[in-house]
Amino acid sequence: MKQALFDKISDRSSVICVIGLGYVGLPRLIGAINCGYPCIGIDTDLSRVDSLNRGKSYIGHIDVAGLHTAILEGTCQIMGNFTSAANADVIMLCVPTPLNRFREPDLSFVTGAFESLSAHLHVGQLISLESTTYPGTTEELLLSKINELGLTAGEDVFLVYSPEREDPGNPDFASGSIPKVCGGVTDACLEVGVHFYSQITEQVVAVSSTRAAEMTKILENTYRAVNIALVNELKIVADKMDIDIFEVIRAASSKPFGFKAFYPGPGLGGHCIPVDPFYLTWKAREYGLHTRFIELAGEVNTSMPDYVIEKTVHGLNLLGKPVNGSVILILGVTYKKNIDDLRESPGIELIRSLSEKGACIRYHDPHVSALHDIPKPGSEMHSVELTVSTIRQSDCVIIATDHDSVDYSLLEMASLVVDSRGVFSSTSDQCMVIRA
Ligand SMILES: NC(=O)c1ccc[n+]([C@@H]2O[C@H](COP(=O)([O-])OP(=O)(O)OC[C@H]3O[C@@H](n4cnc5c(N)ncnc54)[C@H](O)[C@@H]3O)[C@@H](O)[C@H]2O)c1
Repeated sequence: MKQALFDKISDRSSVICVIGLGYVGLPRLIGAINCGYPCIGIDTDLSRVDSLNRGKSYIGHIDVAGLHTAILEGTCQIMGNFTSAANADVIMLCVPTPLNRFREPDLSFVTGAFESLSAHLHVGQLISLESTTYPGTTEELLLSKINELGLTAGEDVFLVYSPEREDPGNPDFASGSIPKVCGGVTDACLEVGVHFYSQITEQVVAVSSTRAAEMTKILENTYRAVNIALVNELKIVADKMDIDIFEVIRAASSKPFGFKAFYPGPGLGGHCIPVDPFYLTWKAREYGLHTRFIELAGEVNTSMPDYVIEKTVHGLNLLGKPVNGSVILILGVTYKKNIDDLRESPGIELIRSLSEKGACIRYHDPHVSALHDIPKPGSEMHSVELTVSTIRQSDCVIIATDHDSVDYSLLEMASLVVDSRGVFSSTSDQCMVIRA
């Protein structure tokens, strides 16, 4: 069984199925098509299925032209149901793993997708969970369900966990060039998993278990969350001392060992860094342990939008203006630069908080033309053009995200700029710049 799947993977006759076609699954699918595999993409969001079938991307930085050609040539199918999963030899699960309202892991997308998949599982398939989750998920949730189906992992089917490391909008790393960690529930599972991933990525790092692979991903994201919190805290201290933290980071980065630069900002965003470490926090409780660094980092990072607001209030005060009634232009609303992802974005948090305080908010973002249900359910905002007159009509401009395509020299026309991204490395001669 193992050899047959091995051979199909090697000669590109194996059918690759990606479940969940979002920021992670869509590039994964495109990567598999580019490697010459026949592919199936499944997503329960029918508007996404329709969009891909029409050759339209719903994620700004992802080009789906090659995917559309594959659809037209019949080498790729995009479906809103799971029926064709029965034809798949390799199945990758790339569905969301958010927190619920109690900030506990919400694995309903993983279990839901697996439930739908169950009827189409059969002997000879490789199943890989790519969604980020706490150590133990693959064995506790998926392996037990596979056993219930009467299939034996390592003999009938092969089960691995291989975390996704996609960095949306980063031009230096495409899916295929980022090393892939892989752990299997048995040695045979690992062997098949490593064989498959080494066809579609340049380097595969095998680990001894799915739990080690799950923990690897959590370590990576916790490392980021904690270091960003550290630099956010140091930013506040440096600012009080009238030191530019960005200058300090640049200087510290000249150390060729022992220092890795992290940058402060208006808070954490995205589907990963603010969320994933809390998967471990939840699981650690089962072992009677607390994850104090994770909790503290979460506390510091979630307080950052308030810090930006405090600095905005201070800046407006210097101009003799209250927040209530001031026109504030938010520049960049996505959680990081050069992408269109709004999830957990601190820019959105700033819009909500400042609107509540009576400010008249506008925004400019080259990647987001409209905002729905922001600041309140039912409301709609549209990105304004960034022109001299828009800037002059604003009492304050807050740089929340530093997209590369924005012409920041225009901000010289602003009366007040609150810069949370270090765009202005020193205070401008022409306008008041407040570091935040
Ligand atoms: N976004 C990132 O940069 C990133 C990076 C690394 C890892 N991850 C992890 O990858 C996973 C996916 O994240 P994402 O950002 O791609 O999410 P996403 O929300 O962009 O995409 C998930 C897709 O899954 C679909 N979906 C939901 N339930 C489904 C089901 N039952 N069957 C089929 N499709 C279903 C959704 O409609 C959506 O299109 C998460 O665990 C995340 O933590 C994300």
